[in-house]
Amino acid sequence: MTSPYEPGATPPPGCPAHAQGGVAAGPADALAQGAPAPGGHPLDQVEGHSLVRLYDPEFAADPHRYYAYLRQYGALAPVEIATGVTAMLVTDYRAALELLNDEATWSKDSRAWMETVPPDTAVMPMLGWRPNALFNDGDVHRRYRQVITDSFRLVEPQELRARVRKTADSLIQKFGATGEVDLMSAYAQQLPLLMFNNLFGMPDEYGDQLVAAIGGLMDGATPEEAAAADAAFSAYIMELVGRKKAQRGADLTSWFLDHPNGLSDEEVVAQIVVTMAAGNEPLANLIANALSRMLSDDRYYSTLSGGALTVQDAINQVLWNDPPMGQYSAHYARRDVFFHGTWVRKGQLVLVSYAAANTQFGEVSLDSGSGSGAHLTWASGPHACPVPRHALVIATTAIERLTAWLSDIELAVPVEELSWRPGAFQRALTALPARFTPITPDQAGATPWDNSSSPSTPPDPTSTRRPSASVG
Ligand code: HEM
Repeated sequence: MTSPYEPGATPPPGCPAHAQGGVAAGPADALAQGAPAPGGHPLDQVEGHSLVRLYDPEFAADPHRYYAYLRQYGALAPVEIATGVTAMLVTDYRAALELLNDEATWSKDSRAWMETVPPDTAVMPMLGWRPNALFNDGDVHRRYRQVITDSFRLVEPQELRARVRKTADSLIQKFGATGEVDLMSAYAQQLPLLMFNNLFGMPDEYGDQLVAAIGGLMDGATPEEAAAADAAFSAYIMELVGRKKAQRGADLTSWFLDHPNGLSDEEVVAQIVVTMAAGNEPLANLIANALSRMLSDDRYYSTLSGGALTVQDAINQVLWNDPPMGQYSAHYARRDVFFHGTWVRKGQLVLVSYAAANTQFGEVSLDSGSGSGAHLTWASGPHACPVPRHALVIATTAIERLTAWLSDIELAVPVEELSWRPGAFQRALTALPARFTPITPDQAGATPWDNSSSPSTPPDPTSTRRPSASVG
């Protein structure tokens, strides 16, 4: 048997593994003598050695460099996702696709794994079991998921687009007159939550409450802030469900409540929370990552004159090369399994890296991307994102609306200075500072504001005009 652990190369300079002695000294040394001892597991032998830490800023700054290193282990590589918490990371496309579609071998239920890690580990909020679609298998999973998919099916794309435009306008209105904005915090992170506030049937004035609550749950909050935010979020959800139980409307909450699968109130709450949580951060990152590409690449100047790139191109680029949730794909082996050359122990956490799998053969260009099969950024198999079309409508419309109103928007810092939020799962900018010619409220009241260089409504959304962009 060939050892899966023969990387033979040193980690990249600045690799998190160097700090504690280096990965190459770990698995390579441990297994240099050959295959694992009979009855043993490779993981037993690498324990005690330093692994690539996915939560370090160095990984966030340049994940593709680490994927290249990790690929030398084979299809799966051992990594650390929080202090003292290890996982196997799938970096190979075929292995990823197979795993995502094999429910018989891989479970999404994290309960047994939770017994094996410190209860206060930083990844628990993302991996702790809940009674929702994401953390359940088989019939239970299907029952929950159907409620979500059937309900979203009732949201018409045209109607969704109109709601995104309205939400986008309300945000742009807040910073339009200033000429500068952090697109991450003032736009990309707020728009999905305001959309969910609307789609789940809450009046607009509750949107800021939801944004504030979720903002308080982000990394970096003190325990007190996180507890307060958690309480605020629970209060929001209780208010939402209470209102809709009292009076139904044409909204997701009412459709969840009335779905023939007959979810209990507790189950409805859990599906609302997972829908908001599973949609919020990926959408924010999709919007921001695509905008960062558009604002730093001259080929996006004009799509009207032909030959230039569109918003859809930017989104496609992100979906292939910079997935919003690079590694958020937790699976647990139902039994000891020898998988694509690596032993995985029963109960072991295995994460699929969509980002590494998509780019196994290098960065995917726009030309090659369209002809080289499907990316895995929506996952695949039973737990694949249930609403990719809705997500695309939201992200595309949000970007089109912004670039239509602020037609000369450009990055306020060189693209190389943008920084990425550390964390094992997401591909998220910490900020996306931009500047533009200010626009002022429209005196005539025909539109929320007026830009002397633009018509009273924004240009056709296929345009991403940026006449004077210069970055860096
Ligand atoms: C309207 C926005 C979105 C909503 C409401 C949403 C909702 C969900 C839900 C409910 C699940 C769990 C499905 C299941 O376990 O059966 C899910 C899974 C997933 N979604 Fe989405 N999503 C949204 C946007 C996105 C975006 C923008 C991306 C990435 C581009 C994405 C990628 C994924 C992936 C990779 C999974 C599988 C996660 C896993 O297996 O651990 N989603 N989504």
